[in-house]
Amino acid sequence: MRRVLVTGGSGFIGSHLTEALLERGDSVTVVDDESTGSATNLAAVQGHERLTYVQGSVGERELVEQLTAGMDEVYHLAAAVGVALIARKPMETIERNIYPTELLLSSLRTRVQRGESVKCFLASTSEVYGKNPKDTWSEDDDIVLGPTTKPRWSYGASKAIDEFMGLAAWREYGLPVVIGRFFNVVGPRQTGAYGMVLPRFVDAALAGQPLIVHDDGQQTRCFAHVHDVVKAVLALMNTPEAVGKVFNVGSDQPISILELANQVVGLAGSASKTCFQSYSAAYDDDFEDIRRRVPDLSRLKNTITYEPAFTLEGIIRQVIDAKKNQDQS
Ligand SMILES: NC(=O)c1ccc[n+]([C@@H]2O[C@H](COP(=O)([O-])OP(=O)(O)OC[C@H]3O[C@@H](n4cnc5c(N)ncnc54)[C@H](O)[C@@H]3O)[C@@H](O)[C@H]2O)c1
Repeated sequence: MRRVLVTGGSGFIGSHLTEALLERGDSVTVVDDESTGSATNLAAVQGHERLTYVQGSVGERELVEQLTAGMDEVYHLAAAVGVALIARKPMETIERNIYPTELLLSSLRTRVQRGESVKCFLASTSEVYGKNPKDTWSEDDDIVLGPTTKPRWSYGASKAIDEFMGLAAWREYGLPVVIGRFFNVVGPRQTGAYGMVLPRFVDAALAGQPLIVHDDGQQTRCFAHVHDVVKAVLALMNTPEAVGKVFNVGSDQPISILELANQVVGLAGSASKTCFQSYSAAYDDDFEDIRRRVPDLSRLKNTITYEPAFTLEGIIRQVIDAKKNQDQS
């Protein structure tokens, strides 16, 4: 039986990952400070004999040392996430995204130096590409971030530092690290409270409120179901060739945000209207967005079998049903 640690395990992606690991037969420890996540996300596995839940921060050195001891695998998902949260709290974003990763990698690297075996997955983000103007982004493309005066870039910059640290831990200390750059991940349990667009649209459509589309709505994104993403993460961690590499993970089918809003209204059978709001009204005058965000998935598909099971329509329907029924599966 593998012993596995999931940081941020009561968050949106972390809770689905935890369920999948338990399903696989692992003994799973979750650590989460519930800053944006909630223990209720793990309601379906609460009391599971192979699940240990620790409410605490991976910013605490002693706790990190204790939790990593004896683990075969660590999935590091704890982070400050969400455009609205980052725009509001750039300092917290940087602190939450850099220091805990440094602590974790340092603790794991010490174990490797003692001759112990452990493997680590780092959850990164498409935000690392910044506003690279290419139509599709490949893992070795340049990082094109905006200026430090615009706080939103602190998310991509902090996750890029995590990637640098993870890759250095592999090269310099032989700690096996796999890095996944997630594009937009969606599904049940995702909250709209920190600016995530699909749950925000579904909440509005079900409440008969207007769907607020930022800017002209022509910016494009690709949405992947959390179960497809979790499957890819587990497959990457089971593939030796993935070690020491960065992978785009998500969907490569772009849709404009306006089209997404229209699909949500249609599928929810809602009478809600869409209305437009400028970025400066939604965030502040310093906000800058990314117009197009599409991954090249060649590396992922050449490394694992990646066949997403969900279409966007299927995902939207499932999120609507989950919200209607308060079914968080
Ligand atoms: N959801 C997406 O579309 C998306 C896209 C790209 C990358 N990611 C990455 O995936 C990971 C998970 O994101 P998510 O969407 O599930 O967000 P989430 O906010 O639901 O999950 C993050 C979890 O980490 C916890 N956390 C934060 N700081 C912590 C700390 N110091 N100690 C312990 N727990 C802490 C939060 O309480 C939360 O439960 C993050 O690393 C994020 O950067 C997500």
